[in-house]
Amino acid sequence: MKQVFTGIAELYTPRERLERAALAVQDGRFVWVGAEADLPEEYRGWPQIDLGGRSEGPSAPGGRRYLGVVPGLVDAHTHLVYGGNRLGEYLQRARGESYEAILAAGGGIYSTVRATAAASEEELYELAAARAALFLAQGVTSLEVKSGYGLLPEAELKMLRVIRRLKETLPQRIFPTLLAHVVPKGWEREKYVEMFCRELIPEVARRGLAEAVDVFCDQGAFTLEETRQILGAALSHGLKVKVHAEQIAHTGATRLAAELGALSADHLEQSTQSDWQALAKSGTVGTVLPGAAVILRKPFPDARAMWDAGVRVAIATDHNPGSSPLYSPWLAMQLTMSLGRLSAEEVLIAHTENAALALGRKDLGKIEVGARADFVVVDSSSALMPLYQWGHTPIHAVYVGGRQVFP
Ligand code: NIG
Ligand code: FE
Repeated sequence: MKQVFTGIAELYTPRERLERAALAVQDGRFVWVGAEADLPEEYRGWPQIDLGGRSEGPSAPGGRRYLGVVPGLVDAHTHLVYGGNRLGEYLQRARGESYEAILAAGGGIYSTVRATAAASEEELYELAAARAALFLAQGVTSLEVKSGYGLLPEAELKMLRVIRRLKETLPQRIFPTLLAHVVPKGWEREKYVEMFCRELIPEVARRGLAEAVDVFCDQGAFTLEETRQILGAALSHGLKVKVHAEQIAHTGATRLAAELGALSADHLEQSTQSDWQALAKSGTVGTVLPGAAVILRKPFPDARAMWDAGVRVAIATDHNPGSSPLYSPWLAMQLTMSLGRLSAEEVLIAHTENAALALGRKDLGKIEVGARADFVVVDSSSALMPLYQWGHTPIHAVYVGGRQVFP
């Protein structure tokens, strides 16, 4: 399939800004990107889609409307599949109770584990698909989705089957991750870690149910040594690795991630200069999760200092029913501008190109020749308008592989 897209007032690639741009797409990938006036002769005869052409705008020059375009957003850390909600816990925490105390008392993650066990695969699929649709409407074209609310082997496999069905049916690109979240009640820690390494990881790898394994390495979850064991097993089965690192306590998980060549270390609320140096050296992405930091009232990760230390910083929503019931990648970027002190151009890179690296993908999250043609058309001639308007996200259309998938 061949297409040329025109009517673009402003385009972020995201590292470069172009005006009056055009895009040529063939078989789902960009084959040409540049100024509309420079569109080579060979593309001029291709079927043309004038992105701004469908309606007249008040500022339309010469009656023609031009819109902004940015790469499809990549949300590289979500827990999209779960049953129930934790509104009650949210209200408790708003009155001052701590996330850690609620978890230690058998609530928190454990309460979502119970609600997820009570839901059928069909229900979990419907709930997650509805959430994914909300993300699509905001321009999220790639989503990582973690298991981790099953804990027991059969329940983890059930979550991963739901994620596989999402991958097969949704318009977005879905990246499944097996998450070691907490030790289930009634299990000995050692036995659980052993089961996870010797049974669950090999089974998941054999069935191709996950691309990566993630561990919640923290106070109340897994220790650094247990994390090393689990990630070692994942690597030996050809899976990529990721870590929930330094959220509640500083554990050293970030340095372990760097040492193992992990795709990313995520959270980083308690991370330090030496952690950032390790990430910068290894190329492991440092993913900040503004929802969890702000909602749990933790220190906001110092995205500015990480970026300046040479870390590839990514931003993700960490959408989950407990620490981050956040549905807006734009709000995640806005918070990182205000509290993490990155510029608008930097947060866009962090939620597109760098986030794609956290999934091990160099061909997503950017508009350049050879990359997948995933992009977002903003309903404004300024591509960064959704970063300026808090709580109002003007999205005109979303494309995945050159195909319009929203509205
Ligand atoms: O990324 N930190 C651990 N896991 C999730 C929270 C899960 C939950 O509270 O249900 C997170 O924040
Ligand atoms: Fe998480």
